[in-house]
Amino acid sequence: MKHPLRLGVLGSGKGSNFRAIMEQINDGRLDAEVRIVISDVENAGILSLARDFQIPGLYVRPGRFRAKLEPEIEEDVVRLLREASVELVILAGFMRIVKEPVLRAFPGGIINIHPSLLPKFPGLEAWKQALAAGETVTGCTVHYVDAGVDTGKILARKTVPILRDDTPERLHARIQKAEHELLPAVLAEIAARFRGLR
Ligand code: GAR
Repeated sequence: MKHPLRLGVLGSGKGSNFRAIMEQINDGRLDAEVRIVISDVENAGILSLARDFQIPGLYVRPGRFRAKLEPEIEEDVVRLLREASVELVILAGFMRIVKEPVLRAFPGGIINIHPSLLPKFPGLEAWKQALAAGETVTGCTVHYVDAGVDTGKILARKTVPILRDDTPERLHARIQKAEHELLPAVLAEIAARFRGLR
């Protein structure tokens, strides 16, 4: 029997993108199943949301680096994703760079949502970068993850206007609304393609 696309979600924050994915799955618009949520932040909103949705949510120790997990911890993440039979890994506000263990375990099987129109403004707080650069338009991007920082193949982008009196908070909130449409839509396309292949 054809099963829904099995997702594993990694996040460090409040989890609004994870919520958007869950809402579309529950509405029958996305043929997928979130098998596990993993966070490097013990009290992250995404973990309490996972509990609300009755999905296994696991905390992994961040280790001693700021921008990446330690290799042994990444190996744990790989084990957890494999045990959950995950087919596609989603970075939904995961604030660490994924390295060899995860990249090797899921070649071409990791996607990220980023709050700018890549290749512009990779890295942290991309909406602030866009504002500081005096842009009039920014947005969000869904892309495959490779070994670089926000450099993988772009799957889709959605533009968001920057208003004259925007604050970083208001702009990020508007970008997030766009993210909540774009990410599940891209996932629905991948899930449909995946269904055709099985
Ligand atoms: C999102 O805006 C996402 O684009 C960003 O973190 C936020 C997570 O929000 N990711 C990055 O900046 C990655 N470089 P959420 O926890 O509410 O989904």
